[in-house]
Amino acid sequence: MQTLLGIDLGTTGVKAALFSAEDGNVISDAFVEYTLYHPHPGWAEQEPAEWWQATISSIQSCLRTAAQQGIQPEDVRGLGLSGQMHGVVLLDEQGQVLRRSIIWADQRSDEQCRWMTEKVGASKLIEYVSNPALTGFTAPKLLWVRDNEPEIFAKARTLLLPKDYIRFRLTGVQAMEISDAAGTCLLDVKHGRWSQEVLAAIGLDPGLLPPVVPADAASGTITAEVAALTGLAAGTPVAGGGADNACGAVGNGVVEPGLALLSVGTSGIVLAHSNSPQVDTSGPVPRVHTFNHAVPDAWYLMGVTQGAGLSLHWVRDNIGLPESALERWTGLDAYDLLAREAERVPAGSEGLIFLPYMQGERTPHLDAYARGGWIGLTASHTRAHLIRSVLEGVAFSLKDCYNIIRDQGLELKQVRATGGGASSPLWRQIIADVLGVELVVTNASEGPAFGAALLAGVAGGVYSSVQEACAKTIRITKRTAPNAELAPIYEQAYETYTALYPALKPIISHPL
Ligand code: XUL
Repeated sequence: MQTLLGIDLGTTGVKAALFSAEDGNVISDAFVEYTLYHPHPGWAEQEPAEWWQATISSIQSCLRTAAQQGIQPEDVRGLGLSGQMHGVVLLDEQGQVLRRSIIWADQRSDEQCRWMTEKVGASKLIEYVSNPALTGFTAPKLLWVRDNEPEIFAKARTLLLPKDYIRFRLTGVQAMEISDAAGTCLLDVKHGRWSQEVLAAIGLDPGLLPPVVPADAASGTITAEVAALTGLAAGTPVAGGGADNACGAVGNGVVEPGLALLSVGTSGIVLAHSNSPQVDTSGPVPRVHTFNHAVPDAWYLMGVTQGAGLSLHWVRDNIGLPESALERWTGLDAYDLLAREAERVPAGSEGLIFLPYMQGERTPHLDAYARGGWIGLTASHTRAHLIRSVLEGVAFSLKDCYNIIRDQGLELKQVRATGGGASSPLWRQIIADVLGVELVVTNASEGPAFGAALLAGVAGGVYSSVQEACAKTIRITKRTAPNAELAPIYEQAYETYTALYPALKPIISHPL
């Protein structure tokens, strides 16, 4: 049997999943968590050594389960990497990690964003890299290290992104895969090469940047040392892979115009495939990103809400204590229990609105300092209202993303929903109702790991193209139609929601 291994280095943990190349069915999977450090409000860091240890454990566990089904390491035709975007991993001359990774969610680099924008010129920056400088992106974080930790920066010889660091450990190859490189704010997204103009304007040594490699071709092979550590066969090809959102798109078949992906992970995104590097012109600065897809010669427009699953995670840990306790005692899922609680409240949460800006916000506000909160509490609201309004607030934020992309004239024939949050029938229904759009779910339960595995299949010659890989393995399994009766309630609530940020900005947006 030919199999493909996908690794997705997420924000809460790493998933390894092994698939049958013939039909995409899952053979085995494993998820191993690691820590997210918040050393300061607005900061978010992770330890690359923890990523690596978790990756080894997840691969071992995946292969162990597969072996019980008679599948051998030699049956793995290729491995594909997917990962959280934008994180800074700095290596010294010897390839040693110099500091914890400053990850996508970190908001400390606002000053560096302003500086970079001024140095390059706001419109030039969009011309060169198709995106503005945002705290979420890699370059401003790198500049923060240059400004604040000069002794570390002086030792830095290579910049890698999270999953590309794992590639380095697996294969010894230092490279950045194109769909992920797009999120650095240093890549000429239109042409798929480093922007020498931007590098020169901000005085960054181009030598820090590794070669850009394609998503669907082999970038290296598993070393003998890693083979001994993980149980993989030495020489197994490792594909370029892709950014988690690009891999999520591939894993859901969003690889041609007309298709969009809506994902509710720690962050939430709406992404639409495009055959050209179209840039959002809805405002003075693009509020949705233009990135290279993991499909050759394709791009996508993507809106990002920083705190989607993160907001519900916060609810679970802070006001969902009964549900968390029940999970411990009975094994029932705390999120399912929270959803049951939310279901007791009518659509619109009886006027209670939640702003999900718990980690600043990207689309549509591009505001690193925005803060979240509930507005409109009355004595008759209950804990159940708090929970439901969080699900609705995230849905409103996703509607902001969806609307901007739609208004750019991109055809959106079908929206495919994915990610842990969208696997909740209630949350998916709320999002469909708020957007007024049918959401479709595919058989790809493993999300980005599946997309990464399909890219490995193309790299390993199992499929002739990403599109063929998707056509062979992906099918629609569920449809969630919007409930038209609720449209007026949600339209009114959305109107209130969109009025809140501008009204509250002077109070809820200031340096942390
Ligand atoms: C996208 C982004 C997030 C991360 C999370 O620009 O920052 O979606 O990729 O994994």
